[in-house]
Amino acid sequence: MDNRPIGVFDSGLGGLSCVKEIMSIMPGEDVIYFGDTGRVPYGSRSQETLMKYVRQDIRFLRSFDIKMIIIACGTASSAVLPWIGDELDTKIMGVVQPASKKAVESTKNGRIGILGTAATVKYGKYVEDIKKLNPDAQVFQKACPMFVPLVENGYMDSEVTEIIAREYLEEIRKKDVDTLILGCTHYPILKDVIQKIMGDEILLIDSGATAAHSAYEFLKSTGMLNDKTTGEYKYFVSDSTEDFAKLGSMFLSKPICEDVGKIDIERY
Ligand code: DGL
Repeated sequence: MDNRPIGVFDSGLGGLSCVKEIMSIMPGEDVIYFGDTGRVPYGSRSQETLMKYVRQDIRFLRSFDIKMIIIACGTASSAVLPWIGDELDTKIMGVVQPASKKAVESTKNGRIGILGTAATVKYGKYVEDIKKLNPDAQVFQKACPMFVPLVENGYMDSEVTEIIAREYLEEIRKKDVDTLILGCTHYPILKDVIQKIMGDEILLIDSGATAAHSAYEFLKSTGMLNDKTTGEYKYFVSDSTEDFAKLGSMFLSKPICEDVGKIDIERY
């Protein structure tokens, strides 16, 4: 047993899709969450900038006594994790591998779609991981750069979001995929609109939730699960804390009652 918290971070709200699943499948775990709201979006940044941001995010989380870190961000997991994972002695897990594995296990026709940020599509880590597991899989990617700003600004159910989603999904709809990875952790909050456009028969894979399941398997197999029944959650952001609790509650489907801390991430 290891009762230290799990550190989770993202560029903003998206990583809460992972925290939601942690709350559901490992309710005793304590979580320290960092949303880099002052520097969102990550998806349009260069690899050099992302490397700097992710190192700072990790340094901040490691200022607490944590037992592992989940990079609950498809962009950082694609562009940076392969290069920094070995630098640290803390266990670090991203979202790409778990979602790729689940997609390969789930697809019936071997045709898999991936929605992600521009950086995620550029680095192609989902494609690489899927192909490693099944070289015959047909994989189709689509960058959806406007989804993150829409979500961060609370446009989850609006008409404009549906119009943009139709435009983004048009191409991938024609590819006859039966499984679609929501490769950016912000996208599960748009699940209803994506499912409506793609059709009910398409399996949507929530990359944040799938990473939480992988973390559970890791903690269980190493005897590191927390033995408490109710976990505690601490939230930090790098910009205004006002909207975070309100919009974050929509991600978690329950209110964020804890105080949200604001930090200066440049100090880390
Ligand atoms: N949630 C991040 C991801 O999974 C969003 C990236 C961004 O900030 O553009 O990729």
